[in-house]
Amino acid sequence: MKQTSILSPTRQLSEEEKSHVWQKPPSHIESEAEKRIYQEVVRNWNRGEMKISTILLEGDAGSGKTQIAKALSADFNLPYTKVTCFADMDKSDVLGSILPVLSEEDGHSDKVEYRYYPSEIVRAYENGWLLEIQEPTVIRDAAVLMALNSALEPDGSLNLPTRIAHRHPDFIAVITTNRGYNGFRPLNEALRDRVQHAEKLDLPPKAVMMERVKAKTGYESEPVLSLLAETIMVLDETARANAIKGVAGMRSYIFWVDAVQSGASIQKSLYYKVLYKITTDPQELVILEQALASHGLTEKLEEMDHICQSQKDGENPEVMELNISENGEFSAKTDQADKNAVRLRKSEDSEGHSDTSSDENTDISSNDNGENGTPFYHELDKSDTTELQKKNFVNS
Ligand SMILES: Nc1ncnc2c1ncn2[C@@H]1O[C@H](COP(=O)(O)OP(=O)(O)OP(=O)(O)O)[C@@H](O)[C@H]1O
Ligand SMILES: [Mg+2]
Repeated sequence: MKQTSILSPTRQLSEEEKSHVWQKPPSHIESEAEKRIYQEVVRNWNRGEMKISTILLEGDAGSGKTQIAKALSADFNLPYTKVTCFADMDKSDVLGSILPVLSEEDGHSDKVEYRYYPSEIVRAYENGWLLEIQEPTVIRDAAVLMALNSALEPDGSLNLPTRIAHRHPDFIAVITTNRGYNGFRPLNEALRDRVQHAEKLDLPPKAVMMERVKAKTGYESEPVLSLLAETIMVLDETARANAIKGVAGMRSYIFWVDAVQSGASIQKSLYYKVLYKITTDPQELVILEQALASHGLTEKLEEMDHICQSQKDGENPEVMELNISENGEFSAKTDQADKNAVRLRKSEDSEGHSDTSSDENTDISSNDNGENGTPFYHELDKSDTTELQKKNFVNS
């Protein structure tokens, strides 16, 4: 999708503003929702009252709402900024505050002046940036909602303590919110009514999940990616159906795949990267585990783990064998029956040290860090080593 600058004709971005225009990383994949919003905004930009400048993205955690808001910043060449709403937000969080400061005039340090400091909302509003308003559903104070409502009028304004701020014609507001389940409050109706385009975002379909995770991690194994995605989808459904509050979504998927890619056991990392992120309540965990079993996933994950581990032991070129002699020196010469041989795992970008943040830690027993705090290669624990040596001995 080519960038279409929607900046007002006379407007030049400052250097600082330019640095806030999001740059799409290579891992970014344009979604249908992004394309649709882009087309709608461009189509209507110069159509007066039909202009689309307040957008709602509502849906699952991790479904890509923030990514779309940022992508639109890149598509339209607008600086991106955000405000994360919270329950006790008051008017000064929207309008800015007047604060006492020591006067800088004549070096009189005891003279106090009052100065107005705009909020991020006001800055975006007046300067014409793209503002992501995260989770305005949580705001309790009606006066704050009123201020936001009036600001989001097409030719709206904000009554600041010192003056009136007018909406810049380039200002775009993107409201992002999780859908109202498990205690989430719905978005204030007046606010909702002000949006001119709304998208419902769910956990993406399996193919899209796989595509995004491939782009992000570089991991390519289709059978593993597919099985892990299915697991996430079943857990997501089960958590919802049983009113379990945690989320199994894209983020868990990305970090789980990353752990598996770095050599962690699929089954063990399922707990650290996915299940315990949803809940650590024993009863809820049982529900989730039962759901996996009844979908045949427990077995499939175990099988896949087995395959991955045996490939890792047999074929992975990143595993090298070092032989440590009695005086502590080592060489890379392979002598598979050597009692002193230990297998060391090297991370993808490692140059002597491994900085992997994987879940491999469950299998390791060595000290994690070197003198300068850099993580070291990990030595497999003794029982694993003996097993491996046995295997190698039998195979040779
Ligand atoms: N189009 C995309 N291409 C590649 N990766 C994406 C895309 N959309 C989302 N992701 C990745 O998915 C993850 C979650 O996305 P994002 O933070 O946008 O979700 P969100 O809906 O804003 O979540 P939350 O509700 O928790 O704020 C991020 O790691 C993000 O980089
Ligand atoms: Mg977000």
